[in-house]
Amino acid sequence: MTSTTARATDPGGRGAATYDRGTIALHWLTAGLVLVLWLIGTFLEDLLPKGALRSGIWSAHFDLGFVLTALIVALPLWRHTGGRRLPVDDPGALHVLAKATHAALYLLLFVIAGLGIANALVRGVSLAGPLALPAVGDPAWRRPLTHWHGLAANILMALALFHAAAALVHHYLWHDGILRRILPGRHAPLSLERR
Ligand code: HEM
Ligand code: HEM
Repeated sequence: MTSTTARATDPGGRGAATYDRGTIALHWLTAGLVLVLWLIGTFLEDLLPKGALRSGIWSAHFDLGFVLTALIVALPLWRHTGGRRLPVDDPGALHVLAKATHAALYLLLFVIAGLGIANALVRGVSLAGPLALPAVGDPAWRRPLTHWHGLAANILMALALFHAAAALVHHYLWHDGILRRILPGRHAPLSLERR
């Protein structure tokens, strides 16, 4: 075990290894954007009448959607290259469940981004005022693409809730360092950040 992968099981969590700044930033940017995109997609049409403001907010959904797509490519790439690896806290069934949850979160994120981008292209949506994507494909695909995109987004939110609840159980019931190690402002000194 190297100095950078030590002590994940430190019960107080004070000396525990934490993720590097890049992983922490990418994780919370991803989580924040997913929440904003879901809120827009779910409530916008009910809250605002048709008009310039609603169209502008839809454009923000598409623009932020492309930003999110870049983040979900960057996060696993960074995790497998420069990102800091931490030791497994509990190698049993719970670890398998956590790994499966993370894999499902990634899978859903890619499915949602793929369907969203396909939908945006089929609709030829506006990204900002007159700047629009070219409309490609059959307009009849809009409805099923929107349906599956929205359904996958709802499943993602349910799984993300489970994932967040598990992190809170670790923190408040089991008092281990699992949540703390991904919280901002608790990263190790720069000299310890690389594997
Ligand atoms: C939409 C919201 C969220 C998404 C999509 C998301 C996604 C992810 C993914 C994909 C990972 C695995 C990263 C990797 O190892 O490659 C992860 C790790 C983690 N997430 Fe989230 N997350 C979200 C919200 C949250 C929230 C709200 C919390 C805390 C309350 C949280 C706590 C954690 C923790 C503690 C880890 C690290 C687990 C470990 O060290 O094994 N996440 N998250
Ligand atoms: C995790 C990220 C995302 C979430 C949670 C999300 C969520 C949603 C939701 C809930 C809807 C409404 C679906 C319905 O009416 O049944 C929607 C619509 C849509 N989303 Fe997303 N979305 C995400 C990412 C993206 C991305 C990456 C794009 C493409 C750049 C995109 C493009 C669209 C389009 C074109 C629509 C249809 C807009 C309309 O009805 O006029 N979304 N999204």
